[in-house]
Amino acid sequence: MAEALIIGENFIDKQNVALILGDNIFEDDFSEEIKNFKSGGKIFAKKVADPSRFGVVDFSSGKAKRIVEKPKEFISDFAVTGLYLFDSRAAEIAKNLKPSARGELEITDVNNWYLEKGELEVAKVDGAWIDAGTFDSLLEAQILAKEKLAGKMVI
Ligand code: G1P
Repeated sequence: MAEALIIGENFIDKQNVALILGDNIFEDDFSEEIKNFKSGGKIFAKKVADPSRFGVVDFSSGKAKRIVEKPKEFISDFAVTGLYLFDSRAAEIAKNLKPSARGELEITDVNNWYLEKGELEVAKVDGAWIDAGTFDSLLEAQILAKEKLAGKMVI
């Protein structure tokens, strides 16, 4: 995913950037957060039942301490959702990453870069969030769209 920042570098054109994953369904409208974002990084966390599927925020010291990609052991149940706001350094940061064990440039490593510098804001998501990456969650997203969000859904 961090590779998107490299592929899109010319498009980003040294500006702030919002990266949104296509399979993430959000109930909330983030346009104000995006408009008001100034610098560093900002991510959006949501309490989930199955944190091992996601990047997870370790809040063990009271504030965000680190983000762990798909933790095997329980760290917290706050998953990092697929909306990321970064300042103009993001593409450069991505270029300096090493691929993870699954062979990807991880967005979690970009987040941790900002976090280590004390420049990552972790906001909480109030409304529904679904990563529609499994058959069950895709169905859940369809039901949410049909029953609750018709006409005002932000994807
Ligand atoms: C990716 C990110 C993960 C994040 C998730 C949100 O996971 O790596 O940190 O929590 O998106 O949807 P992936 O879709 O690559 O499994």
